[in-house]
Amino acid sequence: MSRELKSVLDAVHDGILLMDRGGYVEDLNAEACRIFGTSAGNIRGVSMDRLIDPGRAIVSLAHRVVETGQPYVQDEVVFERRTGGNVTIDISVSPMFDPELSGQLDGAVVMIRDRTITQSLREIVNQQEQLVSYGLIAAGIAHEVKNPLGGIRGAAELLGGWSVDDRGSRAASLIVDEVDRITALVEELMVFARGDELSRTSVNLHQILDSVIELCRLDPIAGGISIGRVYDPSIPEISADADRLRQVFLNLLRNALQATSAGHGRVEIETRMTLEQRLSSRDQTSVPTVQIVIRDNGGGISPELLARLATPFVTTKEKGTGLGLAVSRHWVTLHRGTLSIDSPPGEGTSVRINLPLEAEKVRASARPQS
Ligand SMILES: Nc1ncnc2c1ncn2[C@@H]1O[C@H](COP(=O)(O)OP(=O)(O)OP(=O)(O)O)[C@@H](O)[C@H]1O
Ligand SMILES: [Mg+2]
Repeated sequence: MSRELKSVLDAVHDGILLMDRGGYVEDLNAEACRIFGTSAGNIRGVSMDRLIDPGRAIVSLAHRVVETGQPYVQDEVVFERRTGGNVTIDISVSPMFDPELSGQLDGAVVMIRDRTITQSLREIVNQQEQLVSYGLIAAGIAHEVKNPLGGIRGAAELLGGWSVDDRGSRAASLIVDEVDRITALVEELMVFARGDELSRTSVNLHQILDSVIELCRLDPIAGGISIGRVYDPSIPEISADADRLRQVFLNLLRNALQATSAGHGRVEIETRMTLEQRLSSRDQTSVPTVQIVIRDNGGGISPELLARLATPFVTTKEKGTGLGLAVSRHWVTLHRGTLSIDSPPGEGTSVRINLPLEAEKVRASARPQS
């Protein structure tokens, strides 16, 4: 296979495997290697029956295509990986014909789509589209609301100065305070309208998480709640905006602490490297991700609320703004990551963030040999 074609095939998010007429593997791309949990060098020339248990959907489909010359597809096949764990895949197998042998059947092309990847790519697109619309709303609000607010504030200050009694000046200063609160909210909402403003450096995620934990421990809301850490020491530094990530983790940890109660409240922060969920990095190559999970044993989130979360201003707290999760998702999405929330009834809540490792870090530490 030419080098250029190999790079194209390796960049594709689907697994591609070429099989010859005799059922032997001719070649496969990087994604197929990941799904099969092996390297290309290891299985080139190996019989499909040895690569995957005979009788498995992929093998029998591939054999059927070579026998009949007809294409086949099968969706939602659960595939057990050699390295452990299952993946749900869609398979399509097409016959290959050799033009030099007057169009004789020469083998099959097997395409394998890992549904979890499609799902995470769709999630990224949805989240990005959502953020664009929040940006438009935010810019509109800023324009229509912020300017009149300035006028109201100025007028209230004047009224306060003119007032002859205490009640008048107290009312005026109440107006000023409330205007300031709305202005601060609009400012926060403006985050969505400002576009890409990440200031990336090489950051140590564990240091950021530790500083956030330390900050939260000083807050009375953390009283009587245990905060556990399960860090994967193999995680390298990643290219990210440290301040923005600190803000994200602070929002999420505060939510977790607010959801649990003193005494038996428990929050756990876990980090790990994962090759399961690959996201697009800045240079559009597929890379492994770093996963950060913030888990609590609090009251959980009802399915109805869960569906509405991450929309600005959705809150169940008396003094909440309902912006914490939406802003967090915004910053994670700008890092080309995803933020998802699980809250099975009675089991507390887990917020999972996946951040792509930048390519240079991957080469240095984590990429499987192929
Ligand atoms: N870990 C959690 N457990 C239970 N409910 C949660 C959790 N995290 C978020 N929620 C729910 O999601 C809602 C929105 O959260 P978000 O952080 O966006 O805003 P908020 O916490 O209400 O306000 P703010 O972040 O401004 O203090 C919360 O009001 C709460 O009902
Ligand atoms: Mg919050």
